[in-house]
Amino acid sequence: MDNNRNIFASKIGAILAAAGSAVGLGNVWRFPTETGEHGGAAFILIYVSFMLLLGVPIMVTEFAIGRHGNGDVSGAFVKISGGKKGWRWMGLLPVVSGFLVLSYYAVVASWTLYYAYEALLNGFAGKTSAEFQKDFEAFSSDSVTPVFWTVMIIALTCGIVALGVQKGIERGSKIMMPLLFIFIFVLVVCSLSLPNADLGLKFLLLPDFSKVDGGVILSAMGQAFFSLSVGLGCLCTYACYFRKDVNLMKDGLSVASIDTLVALLSGLIIFPAVYSIPDLRPDAGPSLVFVTLPNVFQQVFGDIPVLAYLFSLCFYLLLVMAALTSSISMLEMSAAYFHRNLHLPRSLSAIVVSVVCVVLATFCSWSFGDWREVKIFDMGFFDLFDFLVAKFIMPIGGLIMCIFLGWVVDEKVLRAELTNNGTLKSPLYPTFRFIIRYVAPLCIFLIFANELGLFSYLF
Ligand code: ALA
Repeated sequence: MDNNRNIFASKIGAILAAAGSAVGLGNVWRFPTETGEHGGAAFILIYVSFMLLLGVPIMVTEFAIGRHGNGDVSGAFVKISGGKKGWRWMGLLPVVSGFLVLSYYAVVASWTLYYAYEALLNGFAGKTSAEFQKDFEAFSSDSVTPVFWTVMIIALTCGIVALGVQKGIERGSKIMMPLLFIFIFVLVVCSLSLPNADLGLKFLLLPDFSKVDGGVILSAMGQAFFSLSVGLGCLCTYACYFRKDVNLMKDGLSVASIDTLVALLSGLIIFPAVYSIPDLRPDAGPSLVFVTLPNVFQQVFGDIPVLAYLFSLCFYLLLVMAALTSSISMLEMSAAYFHRNLHLPRSLSAIVVSVVCVVLATFCSWSFGDWREVKIFDMGFFDLFDFLVAKFIMPIGGLIMCIFLGWVVDEKVLRAELTNNGTLKSPLYPTFRFIIRYVAPLCIFLIFANELGLFSYLF
């Protein structure tokens, strides 16, 4: 029997793969950064509301388009649109976004791999806060070392994708997702036992609505998009491999619940740790996990070096696995297209995409160092790719998918996908359809306008 067909063998495999695509640096790195910068619990409440109101419906929209494609996301758009001019090309969106997103995501993912390696060699022992800052700046601006680690993380990703849907993506997700949860729970317990952990808990759990303004609301919406990977096409691509008996609405809710749980647990690791040292602040920004936290681990466990070692190692391994489960879905988006449409062998498709991504990722990495002065539209490569993906492709991609399924496609297609051809009851169907036709397009327009700075003079 061919046990590596282009379909997830089990329902749990499908959920774990989609959850792996969603859970990533956005949960463990970006979520604490955003929460820290936007006032804690009030931000979280708004973020969770957007997950339910927008994130889940758009995710289910992607699932429905992908699964209807019967194995091919670009084919899905052609099939569903009946070849209508203009829409048939939308299936190429995941191909393009796959290249762009992996190229810059791999740079931050490579930092996590390097930090895991340093933690393994006990390279953080005895360092001071200033040394952590200096080392991070020296490492991220170097022209060779981060590129080496970027090649490593892309090679790992490529290896998993090349193994195929069942043997690579599904098996990888089934191993990495439970491991990720084990690391998270161990780290949460350790972090909550630190001195002043209650201050971190208060920051995370007690909302202070005086901090909420228009900017915070729109940032929470953007974080919900990034965290769930909606609008990119990752989930659409994975849904091509869903079996016909998968309940799309239920799976969407499960994936969003897992994703939110991981983000909240990451907050439970990071904020008690930050508050355990009097001078540190939760709003340290993107350097929180590469400068602030290794410093915390050394200072808090200075007297028990083995704990500092284990805590650091577990934390960076957690980051690596979170990054890897997302990066495989990003590589798969483009590789699947070459595999299915150009008939290249799967492993060759994965290698071709990886080589292009390594070149683009090198440009992104150098934009922190030697190419700091190279600007396109006043942005370095990393910032440009981040801008294109998070502020352009994700909202526009989400908008296109909602309009496509909500307005262009025959309603029978949507109903058939959500009820599994009438075999499932779907009491939420009318609400879902209302959201993707009216609420989501309006909200996405607001995010997009905000990201482009159209509201900056209002708030
Ligand atoms: N959703 C992915 C993440 O959170 C992109 O990292």
